[in-house]
This record gives sequence, structure tokens and C-alpha cells, in this order.
Amino acid sequence: MASSSQFSLLILFLNLFLLTGFSFARGISTTDLIPSVCKKTINQTFCLEILGSNPEAKTAHLFTLEKIAINLTITHVNATNDKVQSLLLKEKDPKLRNLYGNCSTNYEDAFDFLDQANLYLQSKQFWEVIYSARDACQDTTFCEQSFKKAALHFPLSKDNHVLSLLFDIIVVISSMLLK
Ligand SMILES: *[C@@H]1O[C@H](CO)[C@@H](O)[C@H](O)[C@H]1NC(C)=O
Ligand SMILES: *[C@@H]1O[C@H](CO)[C@@H](O)[C@H](O)[C@H]1NC(C)=O
Ligand SMILES: *[C@@H]1O[C@H](CO)[C@@H](O)[C@H](O)[C@H]1NC(C)=O
Ligand SMILES: *[C@@H]1O[C@H](CO)[C@@H](O)[C@H](O)[C@H]1NC(C)=O
Repeated sequence: MASSSQFSLLILFLNLFLLTGFSFARGISTTDLIPSVCKKTINQTFCLEILGSNPEAKTAHLFTLEKIAINLTITHVNATNDKVQSLLLKEKDPKLRNLYGNCSTNYEDAFDFLDQANLYLQSKQFWEVIYSARDACQDTTFCEQSFKKAALHFPLSKDNHVLSLLFDIIVVISSMLLK
């Protein structure tokens, strides 16, 4: 009896050792995730900066990193929409007002797709995350296109460029999650 419980105790400690060893090893490997993600993106510098700015991201697993990337993108989409709203408030020209009004709808739609992407991520449907990110990205380009079509200067091209880089990060992480 005594030897049996000693044996169980040994197993327990062995398990504990393996478990902590395992999570320790995973902790080490996840520290390297940001560089290995960013290596695959369009703008590595941007990727390292934006993910590096999140303290949680440094030790995050790929799944959490994707959550962070989607969240960052939502923040930027909403900030861009806030800019559109304030431009709309100041604008007198009906044509521009119409354009800004449509733009705001586009960015709201982009938010909806990103919200959806978060849900797909939760249920580990990584292809759907990619499709939702693509649709959200497309919505952010509609605004720019309508300004171009009207031969008008688009005041948010910098924001849109940042957004395209963020969407790229989401797609890269999803592709890695698919493997
Ligand atoms: C890449 O990102 C860096 C840092 O945000 C920025 O300074 C640079 O202009 C970007 N280059 C391109 C091509 O987007
Ligand atoms: C994403 O944002 C939501 C709401 O702002 C927050 O509750 C959640 O903790 C964030 N998740 C990550 C991984 O940053
Ligand atoms: C704004 O959207 C409406 C409805 O989709 C469309 O009919 C209109 O042409 C758009 N306005 C501009 C300036 O693109
Ligand atoms: C982003 O904007 C949407 C409305 O378009 C809002 O429902 C959502 O709470 C906002 N999220 C954040 C994190 O600002």
C-alpha cells in the first residue's frame, strides 16, 4: 500500500515536472512569435512596432496574438471613422458630405466584419477569419475609391495605409493558425 501511494506521488511529481517544463518551454517559444509573424508581413518594421507596443503580445500564443491584432485593427478602424465623423461635421459641400457619410458607413461595416472575425477566431474557424478580414479591408478601401473616382484628395490615405498593414498581420497570423 505504502509503496503504491509512493508510486502515485512519484507520478504526480513527474506530471507536475513535465507540465511546468512544458509550459516553460512553450513560454520560451512564444517569446519568439512576434518576429516569426512579422517576418511574413508586408511591413516588418510596422508589425514589430505595433505588436511590440502591446505588453501582452510579447508572451502571447498565436491565438491570443490574433485576438490582439484584431483588437488593434478595430481600434484603428474606429479611430478612422471618428476622423471621418469630425470631417463630416465641419464639411459644408454637399458632395463631400455625401462622400463622408458613405465613408462612415464603410468603416462601420468594416467594424462589423472584424467583430465577426473575432467570433470566428473564438470558434477556431481560421479561414473565416481570413475572409472576414478581407471583407473588412475591402470596406475600408471603398471610401478611398470614391474619392479617387470624384478626383478629390483623400484626407485619410495614411490611416488607410496603416489599416491595410494591420489586415495583412491578421491574415498572416490566421494562415499560421491553419497549419
Ligand atoms: C513601414 O513601417 C514603418 C514603421 O511604421 C514606416 O516608417 C514605413 O514608412 C513603412 N513603410 C511602408 C512601405 O509601409
Ligand atoms: C479586445 O478588446 C476587448 C474589448 O475592448 C477586450 O475586452 C479584450 O480583452 C481585448 N482582447 C485582447 C486580446 O486584447
Ligand atoms: C453614397 O452611397 C449611395 C448609396 O450606396 C450612392 O447612391 C451614392 O452614389 C454614394 N455617394 C457617393 C458620392 O459616392
Ligand atoms: C467601434 O465602433 C463600433 C461602432 O461602429 C462600436 O460598436 C464599438 O464598441 C467600437 N469599439 C471600440 C473598441 O472602440
